[in-house]
Amino acid sequence: MPLPLSRFLSVIAITLKMTDTPKGTDYMASALENPMGSHTESILRPPSFDDFTGQEKTIERLRIMTGAAKKRGEPLNHILISGPPGLGKTSLSFILGAEMDCKVRITSGPVIEKAGDLAGMLTNLEEGDILFIDEIHRIPKTVEEYLYSAMEDYRIDIMIDQGPNARSVRLNIPRFTLVGATTRSGLLTAPLRSRFTLQTRLDYYKAKDLLTIVKRSCRILNVPLDDAGGIEIAKRSRGTPRISNNLISFVRDYAEEKGDGVITKPIAEKALELLEIDRFGLDEMDKRILRAIATTYKGGPVGLSTLAIAVGEATDTLEEVHEPYLIQNGFLHRTPQGRAITDEGFRAIGLKG
Ligand SMILES: Nc1ncnc2c1ncn2[C@@H]1O[C@H](COP(=O)(O)OP(=O)(O)OP(=O)(O)O)[C@@H](O)[C@H]1O
Ligand SMILES: [Mg+2]
Repeated sequence: MPLPLSRFLSVIAITLKMTDTPKGTDYMASALENPMGSHTESILRPPSFDDFTGQEKTIERLRIMTGAAKKRGEPLNHILISGPPGLGKTSLSFILGAEMDCKVRITSGPVIEKAGDLAGMLTNLEEGDILFIDEIHRIPKTVEEYLYSAMEDYRIDIMIDQGPNARSVRLNIPRFTLVGATTRSGLLTAPLRSRFTLQTRLDYYKAKDLLTIVKRSCRILNVPLDDAGGIEIAKRSRGTPRISNNLISFVRDYAEEKGDGVITKPIAEKALELLEIDRFGLDEMDKRILRAIATTYKGGPVGLSTLAIAVGEATDTLEEVHEPYLIQNGFLHRTPQGRAITDEGFRAIGLKG
């Protein structure tokens, strides 16, 4: 895509469209989204591998890569981290930066609209820096091709000017590490995916790991909690640390208003009932989905787009946020004809299967 020279130079020279805060959460439009504010979210972020609970396989892979790269004195190879929202992708990119003792520059796929945007970011990196691209599956296809040579050969060829003056300019880029995060690794093109040396996936957390995370967050926030109260929050967190942290915030308020400030099992149960989060950790939208399939579509199967209209949610959000949890926990299954509810799903909404 040709760029006039003046525009191209200004793109390189001016401040970059990089953000300090990740933008990967905008589609999680639930009422529970980050009520703690970004400050609390950042103090709760685990600062090192040792503080990062769970995801053993991914952590072992990353420890090996960072250990070896440090010994060789080389930048890390490119890494792709995939998985549902709130499981720790952004946190891991900061940990990688701390381990490698380098800067982490954060941007997000939809922000990089043109090849010039990408060129500007890449040429402003320093040797060894990490460029973290959140929602990397949302990079426009026309820009994606420029990433290939940047990742492989640390150079980028950009067309400047148009018509008879059009010419290609080669820009050399410092050796950097691309850390890509995506909630939809399936949407990444094969050529892009294959340029990541490590592709690793985060899974929903087990209740015991979430309990450790809940206890750690409460310790940092000075919130008194007993074991049974912690287990209750962990069980109802949909396998997601960000949700645990958000629930702690609400349950703490509830404990202060209705109890003596300590998070106990009865306090956690009542607070989470008020949020309509049941003992399976299902939120209101999860249950709306199950109810729609169970009643309107008599158990299913029903197509995704029809279901999305029935529950008033975007198909993307259904696929990225709600379905993975419902399917992995046996409430829903996919058939070639669409989504169908399981007996467990019927029970979760108080109906017989
Ligand atoms: N393994 C963990 N141990 C402790 N806390 C964690 C862990 N993983 C995530 N968290 C907590 O969850 C919060 C959300 O994590 P993070 O922002 O890294 O998720 P994400 O995968 O980038 O989400 P998104 O896809 O929405 O951008 C963090 O602020 C952190 O407090
Ligand atoms: Mg993130």
